[in-house]
Amino acid sequence: MATTVITNISSLVTNDPSLGEGPLGTVQDAAVVIDGDRVVWVGTSSKAPATDNRVDAEGRAALPGFVDSHSHLVFAGDRTAEFNARMSGRSYSAGGIRTTVAATRAASDEALDANVRRYVREALRQGTTVLETKSGYGLTVEDEARALRIAAAHTDEVTYLGAHIVSPDYADDPAAYVDLVTGPMLDACAPHARWVDVFCEQGAFDGDQARTILKAGAARGLTPRVHANQLSYGPGVQLAVELGAASADHCTHLTDADVDALASGTTVATLLPGAEFSTRAQWPDARRLLDAGATVALSTDCNPGSSFTSSMPFCIALAVRDMGMTPDEAVRSATAGGAAALRRTDVGRIAPGTRADLALLDAPSHVHLAYRPGVPLVSAVWRAGVREA
Ligand code: NIG
Ligand code: FE
Repeated sequence: MATTVITNISSLVTNDPSLGEGPLGTVQDAAVVIDGDRVVWVGTSSKAPATDNRVDAEGRAALPGFVDSHSHLVFAGDRTAEFNARMSGRSYSAGGIRTTVAATRAASDEALDANVRRYVREALRQGTTVLETKSGYGLTVEDEARALRIAAAHTDEVTYLGAHIVSPDYADDPAAYVDLVTGPMLDACAPHARWVDVFCEQGAFDGDQARTILKAGAARGLTPRVHANQLSYGPGVQLAVELGAASADHCTHLTDADVDALASGTTVATLLPGAEFSTRAQWPDARRLLDAGATVALSTDCNPGSSFTSSMPFCIALAVRDMGMTPDEAVRSATAGGAAALRRTDVGRIAPGTRADLALLDAPSHVHLAYRPGVPLVSAVWRAGVREA
């Protein structure tokens, strides 16, 4: 296998404090050696071993590829009108999901596959090398299983979200829909997914329904993650912690008890600032969670309704400007935090043995991701040792 050194990196974030300075393990004037799909050496440029190939970063900064642990990419249709109405003062509600459900059911497999491919590629160009995505716009046995099959063709991190909203076909009998989600739909979906998720919210699923659905998924080998406390206070976060979910996502409306639960458990608090941006909602308080000791991830929530962005750099900039995070904390949450939310140790860090996922920035340090918002700073991306962008 040919080895490659990426050298002359002005500042390298490793997320491994044993390799460099501070919690980000930053190495100045760094080099990284890749062998096949793995990192095999990290250190200062002058000490790099001889390799077959050499890439000169010309003083650019580098960091682990972003780990986007929450997106909804299997969809068709367009909700520009809904966004426009919101920006004219209307508020966001879970009901908008129905518009996308109708368009997704009507779309061909090829059209859905092309959509997922397009957004995964779009994210990759912006530095995202691991991406979770969900079903949730099918809401029939066939449409949910189809969504997961299509998602699994593009990523290993696939989540069954049959419980996104109660299917419009079951509007008069939500209990029967929960039976479907925990019965035949789960049977059809479990083989294609790693995770099970529920939108635990007024207008979607209450705490008891969510518990039933998550436990049924867990009994089939799917690990829970929860859309929790997005639009209102509620039981989602406590339920996520109680069930040992990998993450509680959104965390916008938290009581002190919710924050304590997240700080004392293993459930990662995943914050999705694109959703608050696109719905003009209050920002989640990242500072409060970090100060309490919770592990925080940042993710895009890319979906056509509440957050139509695939850009992790954009989310980092929002988190720094409006959620009380330092640039270092935001970058760590978008890389190592996302990896923790997906229970992955092979990504989100750059150290000997990790997968060779890294992004080069047209900037002298990772701080520029927040300092230069909206600027396409990602100039090269390696994923599993392959230069992709
Ligand atoms: O994470 N909260 C639920 N699901 C998505 C929104 C989906 C939609 O509006 O289509 C979210 O924000
Ligand atoms: Fe979501």
